[in-house]
Amino acid sequence: MNVIKVPNYYALSEAAACIVASQMLENPKLTLGLATGSTPAGLYKELVRLYNNGVLDFSNTPTVNLDEYVINPEHPQSYISFMKDHLFSHVNLESNYHIPNGAATDLNAECERYNGVVKNLPNRLQILGIGSNGHIGFNEPSTDPDSFGYYTSLVHLADSTIKDNARFFDGNEDEVPTAAISMGIKQILDSDQIILLATGEHKSKAIYDALYGKITPTCPASVLQLHKNVTLIVDTAAASKLPY
Ligand code: F6R
Repeated sequence: MNVIKVPNYYALSEAAACIVASQMLENPKLTLGLATGSTPAGLYKELVRLYNNGVLDFSNTPTVNLDEYVINPEHPQSYISFMKDHLFSHVNLESNYHIPNGAATDLNAECERYNGVVKNLPNRLQILGIGSNGHIGFNEPSTDPDSFGYYTSLVHLADSTIKDNARFFDGNEDEVPTAAISMGIKQILDSDQIILLATGEHKSKAIYDALYGKITPTCPASVLQLHKNVTLIVDTAAASKLPY
């Protein structure tokens, strides 16, 4: 894994944007795999700036998101709302984005539909955040040895994730959806390039385990040790448990 250590969140966002922008400029067939949550917000802000300055053109770059809560898409904290607020409404992507429908009447059928979507979008540069419990997407720690082979599925959020994400719901854990549709580990590993972003001391243990721990479903991010093209961009606080 290639590790880029930067002093703070601003530098992390800039470094990530440099890589994403250069890939978009160099590779006309690129698919951008997107994450939500607080970590990539600065990256999206920078991509919007580069678009406004005429550097980037999103019209030929489809996007595919990792996950969506089981939630009404109109909810301000749905991930589709997040993506519109931070990126989709600000660039010329038009409707060339893909994200699971968290309000589908048949959620399992929606997972199947999304598997088809992901399969048809090759050359993916996948942005990842990491949960403080080591999750990637909403692939939560598990004891299931088969979980590394999963495709998109309906998942239940770990209690620790509900606690972590309550900050988006006025601090109210009862308001956080308990289920989500998430791209599976197999599909994350199938991407061509991965940029893993981590900021803050509360991510330092997960980052240490992801890089140096045993490869195990109890730390889903540890599976990234098996991927041939991962760049971790980490700020000083999130890197604080790394041995260098
Ligand atoms: C969101 C996602 C999650 C987040 C993770 C970190 O699409 O896939 O894995 O990346 O929960 O969230 P933040 O960035 O809010 O700490």
